[in-house]
Amino acid sequence: MSSSIVIFGASGDLTSRKLIPALYQLFRKKRLPPETRIVGFARSKFSHDGWREKLRGTTAEFTGTDFQTPLWDEFAKLIFYHPGDIGQEEDFHRLRRFLDELAPGADAARIYYLATAPQFYAEAIAQLGASGLADEMLGTRRIVVEKPFGTDFKTARELNIAVHRVFGERQVYRIDHFLGKETVQNIQVFRFANSIFEPLWNRNFVDHVQILAAEEVPVGRRGAYYETAGVLRDMFQNHLLQLLAVTAMEVPSRFEADLVRNEKVKVLQSIRPFTPQEVAERTIRGQYVGYRQEPDVASDSQIATFAAVKLCIDNWRWQGVPFYLRSGKAMDCRTTQIVIQFREPPHIVFANGKEQQADANRLVIHIQPAEGMQLYFQTKVPDAGMKMRLTNLDFRFGAQFAGVMPEAYERLLLDVLAGDPSLFSRSDEVELAWTIMDPILSAWEKTRQPELAMYEPGTWGPDASRQWMEHDGRQWVDMCPVLK
Ligand code: BG6
Repeated sequence: MSSSIVIFGASGDLTSRKLIPALYQLFRKKRLPPETRIVGFARSKFSHDGWREKLRGTTAEFTGTDFQTPLWDEFAKLIFYHPGDIGQEEDFHRLRRFLDELAPGADAARIYYLATAPQFYAEAIAQLGASGLADEMLGTRRIVVEKPFGTDFKTARELNIAVHRVFGERQVYRIDHFLGKETVQNIQVFRFANSIFEPLWNRNFVDHVQILAAEEVPVGRRGAYYETAGVLRDMFQNHLLQLLAVTAMEVPSRFEADLVRNEKVKVLQSIRPFTPQEVAERTIRGQYVGYRQEPDVASDSQIATFAAVKLCIDNWRWQGVPFYLRSGKAMDCRTTQIVIQFREPPHIVFANGKEQQADANRLVIHIQPAEGMQLYFQTKVPDAGMKMRLTNLDFRFGAQFAGVMPEAYERLLLDVLAGDPSLFSRSDEVELAWTIMDPILSAWEKTRQPELAMYEPGTWGPDASRQWMEHDGRQWVDMCPVLK
């Protein structure tokens, strides 16, 4: 069976930085199914060879030492370009004729990848429907929709309706590339393939959870997009809530797409909604000094480049265990990590009459970089009476497994080709995530509370964030990963 992957928005950054390098890597690893074709669709005028040539340079740049010219030359034979305009129905009919010639046969699968600007998603989907390109009588048809999926609940719902007019839910693959990261998938293996952690994974032992996605880079050239998104839409509604769901979910009865997604949906359903008053108390919004001078950013912009949000999960496992989510641009270092902070020991017997504090156990899951995890526990300092110190067991993927960690898009594209939607967001999941974020977004816009707190680039965010956490009786774990 042949498969054609049609990329809409083929001349954009995502295609050259992520999609084509990932497909090249799959080809290099001999994982790309035979008879796979890649077709770029965009308004720019390229010949097949012209586009291949452009991609050769960018793929070499983004795959580094894995790039081998003879292999690329083989791979490039699978790549084609078809100029077209999403607004023109005739261009879709032409595309259809092109695909019929390129990969004929009643069982020729087609995957449509929407990598365009999001305002074109609905139109592209409608055109696919009208031109017969979505017709499954003629073979498997799947649609991949990049983020952002809507800008709030209402627009996400409208987009879901537009998608479902043409495609059934089982044909739809909504991307959240965090789910394709090995370390995120490993959370489920860690939790559900080991018997010693799960008994501790609840309100009886866990004090709170911190989920952090810090980035060192500023907004830079993405100002126009970022002004409409801000950190909540860019990182929280999708990536951070997915990390939360995977950390907090119950074990599914089997590892199947809908069973896994049902469990994640239950977590999202259990998150306590915010009132405007609670938004003021349970969130922090910050902006780095210099953001307003970035290109395409308003000189009085109120957009948050940093946020901290305290979420409460109202279910039996997590009642009373806050989940603190935090993300920002222009921070101290790049690190995405999940901290499971366990409760303090009820009583320290080694004090010998003196004050001796014992920091509680902690598990730090490093999503990236320095992929791995550390388990912190108290140890007796040798030759120092009963003095204790927090030490750790340090697991690194890099030390245990040969080879570099694959890019998330490799796994995700392979799953789309294989028809496995486990690592993609379902329609209800996306809508629920927006219902959690919408009250915060709207309170921030309307009441401007809490106040926008400025922070210096290269820090852990505004001071207000540290004070807010201390006021909650806790401390942020601000730790840059040690690369080994
Ligand atoms: C994207 C956001 O979805 O995720 C970016 O739009 C962010 O702003 C990126 O930088 C982070 O992804 P990763 O894989 O580099 O951590």
